[in-house]
Amino acid sequence: MNNSIIDEIKKLKEEKNAIILAHNYQPKEIQDIADFLGDSLELCIKASEIEDKDLVVFCGVDFMAETAHILNPDKKILIPDIEAECPMAHMLPEEELLKAKEEHPDAGVILYVNSIAEAKQHADTLCTSANAVKIAESLNQDKILFGPDNNLGAHVQEKTDKEIIPVPKGGHCYVHKLFHVEDVELKREQHPNAIVICHPECNMDVQEACDEVLSTGGMLKFIEESENEEFVIGTEIDMITRINSEIPGKKLYPMLEGAICETMKLHTLEKVRDALKNEAPEIKLPSDIASKSLKAVQHMLDASN
Ligand code: 13P
Ligand code: SF4
Repeated sequence: MNNSIIDEIKKLKEEKNAIILAHNYQPKEIQDIADFLGDSLELCIKASEIEDKDLVVFCGVDFMAETAHILNPDKKILIPDIEAECPMAHMLPEEELLKAKEEHPDAGVILYVNSIAEAKQHADTLCTSANAVKIAESLNQDKILFGPDNNLGAHVQEKTDKEIIPVPKGGHCYVHKLFHVEDVELKREQHPNAIVICHPECNMDVQEACDEVLSTGGMLKFIEESENEEFVIGTEIDMITRINSEIPGKKLYPMLEGAICETMKLHTLEKVRDALKNEAPEIKLPSDIASKSLKAVQHMLDASN
């Protein structure tokens, strides 16, 4: 059954000159058919380098596909399930950012790429968990409005002398909020030889209890280069799927089996095939919002080099 759908996907992809981009949190069946798999920054860079393709199928959440659309306004960007939203991205509405900018007119604005395009158009730049500190240092201002993730903001605050002002108060990822220091302690007891890694979307006390705090792409690289054999992974569960398929011979333990980003799992092989066949659902933004947001996306890409 799956094999025939995979054959259909391959055929349609060729016919339509399409590329499938997927985030590291996608389920195995999607990871296996993706042309490119990565973290948010890697996906953004890849989306800026697809001049030769006519169609993109984006297996990730809304803000990721929107960023691909901002970079490629003339291409069709499809998302297999249109309900695949990142709840955190919707925690910072445009009005709240504009109000914070009014209150802090001397501050620069960095938005996590996990934000809606209506907010992105008012940012000086964007960041991901892979480049947030570097991006903060790239701005001239000493004060920085940073949102929507308060934990990534706190992570940056630890590593810079600039003042990070979180906006909105309480912006978070519900998946990474599931991790507690007790989970880190339990895993250390169970696997004393493991290096314990978490994502900077985790609470600060969890970050402090871990050995490394890394983006999903950073985790892959770190594990590949490490001589250690065992690792505890404090992020969404399918990151382990990605690491296992690429780096054999390592022992990986999830910090929590139940750390699942529900909307990332909405995409299926059937929906990928149907998206290619019907050229829908398509991610589209009003053209003025897309063109105004491009400045911040481009600033991040330039500053990441
Ligand atoms: P990465 O950029 O590290 O892949 O993180 C994306 C994300 O949404 C984490 O929850
Ligand atoms: Fe958004 Fe959290 Fe899912 Fe990442 S894991 S896409 S931040 S809800």
